[in-house]
Amino acid sequence: MPTVDNPTEKTLAELGVNDAQGVAEKFAEVRTRFDRQVAFDADEIRSLMLHEAWLGSDSDPVTSLRNFWVGRKAGVLTLITENWLKKSPPSLKGVVGKQFNELKTHIETKLEEQRKRIEEKTEAAALNREQVDLSLPGVIRPIGSHHLIRQVFQEIEDIFFSIGFSIVEGPEIETPYYNFEDPVRDDMDTFYLELPPSSDKKAAPTPLLLRTHTSPMQIRTMEKQKPPVRVIVPGKVYRRDNPDATHSFIFHQVEGLAVDTDITFCDFTGTIDYFVKQFFGPSVKTRFRPSYFPFTEPSVEFDVSCIFCGGSGAAAGGGTCSKCKGAGWIELFGAGMVDPAVYGFVNYDAKKVSGFAFGMGIDRLAMLKYGIDDIQVFFQNDVRFLRQFP
Ligand code: FA5
Repeated sequence: MPTVDNPTEKTLAELGVNDAQGVAEKFAEVRTRFDRQVAFDADEIRSLMLHEAWLGSDSDPVTSLRNFWVGRKAGVLTLITENWLKKSPPSLKGVVGKQFNELKTHIETKLEEQRKRIEEKTEAAALNREQVDLSLPGVIRPIGSHHLIRQVFQEIEDIFFSIGFSIVEGPEIETPYYNFEDPVRDDMDTFYLELPPSSDKKAAPTPLLLRTHTSPMQIRTMEKQKPPVRVIVPGKVYRRDNPDATHSFIFHQVEGLAVDTDITFCDFTGTIDYFVKQFFGPSVKTRFRPSYFPFTEPSVEFDVSCIFCGGSGAAAGGGTCSKCKGAGWIELFGAGMVDPAVYGFVNYDAKKVSGFAFGMGIDRLAMLKYGIDDIQVFFQNDVRFLRQFP
């Protein structure tokens, strides 16, 4: 620590002090200097530290100032004790001691006041900085909206709910048994899961697949529930179809199943007709075509007239309509009366119950209703498309 400026590093004799008045003057000098510094705020002490290197280099200016004055090892009070008090002639000891005690009390009291003052000021400044102005407008985060497919699910659910159907959901990973090991559907249409070998080396693991339709929930529902049954099953399904304007390898279906003691083919067509008119409006043209599904007898396909070519099958600019491939119709559902053989698997009495089932392609329903000419847009998540259906 440099000494030039610090009289307390010398003895009184070295300072040329040899009477009470001289002692009082020296103490007054020290006290004046202290009073100037103790009036400073933190920033002023910092700049004092820069200019008067002897003040020390603690990062906290208040501590630095404190150490300079009352530090045990080389603080001013310690130096006065060592250099002035202990080394003063006996005639001056009383005066020096008295002056020292006064100075000590003064320094300690004032340093404590300064610490409090600076602390309060720092705290007030921090509070001021962190103050939250509740009257300021909040940050507005855009709220997303339901995907069009989700909206169409909702529309369909509402219609069926209004005529007594309830909604159930099922697993997307299925066994071939529940997926209706479909002899018609080529295995090539199905995504199988790669499974780890079973612990019992001899037994082949049960294959698992991504369901190719929502029909597995027919069996799962009837296993759990006795008739009457009226359910719809919305969900995702997967097929190894080549993507084009009306095919995707992941798409959505709603399965429907109604089983009771007196359900006829008329109930079936009436229900489908009611749904289609509610969903598309009364003017849509529809048709049933005979078809085959392993779990319905008779089975039908249900088509609606193609809205893109008005049912003509011809594209506006000539050639065939790419959406219905010239047919003038777009296939929406597979459906039929539940094959009585199915009841045997779920312990229903085939002599007493009858019912119908359907599985509709939701993406195609949405395309037709909202005039969307490519199924792929549902999966590309382009916000310019999504925002059109808030
Ligand atoms: C079935 O999936 C049967 N499970 C339907 C069924 C249920 C019949 C209950 C009888 C009783 P299909 O394979 O036809 O049927 O598919 C049903 C509908 O899904 C089709 O009419 C079509 O609208 C839609 N669909 C089929 N493949 C695709 C695809 N790759 N992309 C988009 N939609 C598709």
